[in-house]
Amino acid sequence: MAIREIIILPDKQLRLVSKPVEKVTPEIRKLADDMFETMYDAPGIGLAAIQVAQPLRLITMDLAKPDESGETTRRPRVFINPEIISASEEKSVYEEGCLSIPEYYEEVERPARVRVRFLDLDGNMHEEDAQGLYATCIQHEIDHLNGVLFVDYLSKLKRDRVLKKFTKAAKRTVE
Ligand code: NI
Repeated sequence: MAIREIIILPDKQLRLVSKPVEKVTPEIRKLADDMFETMYDAPGIGLAAIQVAQPLRLITMDLAKPDESGETTRRPRVFINPEIISASEEKSVYEEGCLSIPEYYEEVERPARVRVRFLDLDGNMHEEDAQGLYATCIQHEIDHLNGVLFVDYLSKLKRDRVLKKFTKAAKRTVE
């Protein structure tokens, strides 16, 4: 396994529409392994392949919380070619962040519950009802596969402000 570099706003690759995974090859398994290592290292709870510059419809996620003793048992999950097949009318608001927009958090409103269809690494199809943090996280990550970022849901003022901040920071790094 290897930690890969996470691309950061305003990298234009974040706006690409990712392509479906046609076959789970050893390279896809390696990519998923690397994404988990990258995500745990960051640390984050979800990562889309495009965030490590691979425009493929592949997501890693781990929503495990520490137990009473403070230990966290990892619950790694892979979503290949995930799709939202239905969404509740009811909305919920979560404060979201993104490993490609570090140290920036804002409240985003999304459907409170969604039904998601996806393939696992063995090529089996699953359908699950997601709610709470799972619903928010899977919607956020599927957005990445379509070139959408959570800041797109904010007011133009807020979005312009964060884009400007990250564009400036990127310039500083280059100089
Ligand atoms: Ni994100």
